[in-house]
Amino acid sequence: PVPVLAIDGPSASGKGTVAARVAETLGWHYLDSGSLYRLVALAAMRAGVAFDDEAGVAALAAGLPARFEGGRVLLGEGADRDVTDEIRSEACSVGASKVAVLPAVRAALLDRQRDYRAAPGLVAEGRDMGSVIFPDAGLKVFLTASAEARAERRHKQLIEKGLAANMENLLKDLQERDARDAARPVAPLVKLPDAALLDTTQRDVDEAVAFVLDLVGR
Ligand code: CDP
Repeated sequence: PVPVLAIDGPSASGKGTVAARVAETLGWHYLDSGSLYRLVALAAMRAGVAFDDEAGVAALAAGLPARFEGGRVLLGEGADRDVTDEIRSEACSVGASKVAVLPAVRAALLDRQRDYRAAPGLVAEGRDMGSVIFPDAGLKVFLTASAEARAERRHKQLIEKGLAANMENLLKDLQERDARDAARPVAPLVKLPDAALLDTTQRDVDEAVAFVLDLVGR
């Protein structure tokens, strides 16, 4: 079977950056599963469907007209609307975290995620890549960092973008998101026994990428 490297971990742990760089180095496909939940949240807002309307949100998730193209994310009939920045907004982050607790929404996105598995390999990043979507993945990593380190990184990113940022609020926000990820009945975020633990509290991106590549044997 086509090899899968599953990288799971909490918000702002640096998974996205590490997974994308590892995929590029290996020449493997890349799945950013969180962006699918963000797209569903955006589609719900646009359609005026409440985040807790499970059947309504799942119907949107099942028919999500979205495409990924050269690092851009497109949404809409004809997939012509560039929503790359919009899905990173605070509203979509909160919405994604809410729609992600709905079992029917997760089920609606299952096959779409599995379809990313193609030769020569796939790096899949999210919360349940190793547990639910690709349980047979030969390589699993749990990538994490302390809540303080993650809040500091997000703070730095926002400041660099010239946006307002408050450490106390960021930390509180991350802890709330961690709690929602861990407490939901379906696909809660857990460190699997067969996943390698990568704690990036004291490691930079280069070191984290090197750790993962070493695991893959490159
Ligand atoms: O920046 P952050 O890590 O919070 O966002 P993300 O990885 O883009 O994920 C957005 C939201 O989708 C999070 O709140 C996760 O709870 C949820 N998610 C999920 O439930 N399952 C996944 N495989 C990926 C993301």
